[in-house]
Amino acid sequence: MASSSELRRRFADALWREGAITRPEVAEAFATVPREAFVTDGFHGRDGTWVAPDAGNFLDAVYTNDVLVTKVVDGRATSSSSQPSLMAAMIEALDLTPGTRVLEVGAGTGYNAALMATTGARVTTVDVQPDVVERAAAALSRVSATVDLQLGDGYAGWPAGAPYDRVIVTVGVAGTSPLWLDQLAPGGFVLAPIRHAGHHPVLRIAPGPDGTVHAVGVCPAGFMSAAGPLSAVYPGAHPLGGAPLPPPAVSHPTRFDPPLDVFRYHDMWFALGAWDARTSYAQTPDSAGNGGCALLDETSGGGATIWPDGAVDGSGPHAQMYAERASGLVDRWVASGRPAVPAWRTPMTLDGEPANPIWVPDDWRLAP
Ligand SMILES: C[S@@+](CC[C@H](N)C(=O)[O-])C[C@H]1O[C@@H](n2cnc3c(N)ncnc32)[C@H](O)[C@@H]1O
Repeated sequence: MASSSELRRRFADALWREGAITRPEVAEAFATVPREAFVTDGFHGRDGTWVAPDAGNFLDAVYTNDVLVTKVVDGRATSSSSQPSLMAAMIEALDLTPGTRVLEVGAGTGYNAALMATTGARVTTVDVQPDVVERAAAALSRVSATVDLQLGDGYAGWPAGAPYDRVIVTVGVAGTSPLWLDQLAPGGFVLAPIRHAGHHPVLRIAPGPDGTVHAVGVCPAGFMSAAGPLSAVYPGAHPLGGAPLPPPAVSHPTRFDPPLDVFRYHDMWFALGAWDARTSYAQTPDSAGNGGCALLDETSGGGATIWPDGAVDGSGPHAQMYAERASGLVDRWVASGRPAVPAWRTPMTLDGEPANPIWVPDDWRLAP
């Protein structure tokens, strides 16, 4: 059986070969920090299977490019170690150098904080759940990582450690806390998965001149939603999907052969969300667990689903109208040259709860 250090090295090499890691210091961090030290109580795999710490496949399951869910409340995941390729993409997008001051919102297991600290960054990390913080503290001390771990609602940032060169958010949020921007050093930026069309793509947010705030797309992603004001639903937000749509009453044919791969599908999905705020996520009526990009009608009980092969299924009372609207948006994406997530930018506007406002995307446009 391969040792942890062999598995780690292979894991880092595999992420490098896939292109998820391109910087040597990030590869070195993945090859150095033992992920199993952060999930010592076991975890649920993506398919929900429980992997106990004494299971024969424990280490192999730890060193997969997959999310490890470490806490579930009422059937809903509330803490996890995120998917490594996504962690790598986000760490690389931070452009860390030794001494970079980083605030992480969403400490979770502590693994991502330890990876960043291993590259030489000075990391403060905050989590809102006391038991999660307790376990992360034990894990960080197990691997002797130098990380400032704090309990608190990440909306407030962590003023005692400010200023930060970077704020990285590892939980899905509806917008950017103004307090993170207050705690940024000049030239700094926030990297956060901000709710968009039923997902949480990663955006890079930075203050501009005269108090303005702007965001650009970085990469598609899915995250669990944050607690508290960071998840506020505001007027004009995309609808919260999830419920299965009724069986299709109208179907438009496929148009992509082969179908879009998962990344290109999410590029198309992002564009539809930028152009139409009715874009969200919906499940198929067969309850096979399949879900996809959908335009939800005003009752969220019908609309149109857009599939990776470009087929469109309309359902509910406005099936015809929504299917046509969805097909028109797919045409527009193709005619625009199939832009990817990083092609998009937007000014941000202050919205959310009046007492705890958040900066949210205002007007997505393609970069000229
Ligand atoms: C996907 S996990 C973070 C993964 C983590 N970075 C790691 O390496 O394991 C998301 C975490 O965000 C935390 N969280 C949710 N809402 C929060 C909030 N308002 N402030 C701070 N943390 C929050 C959850 O408790 C959870 O542990």
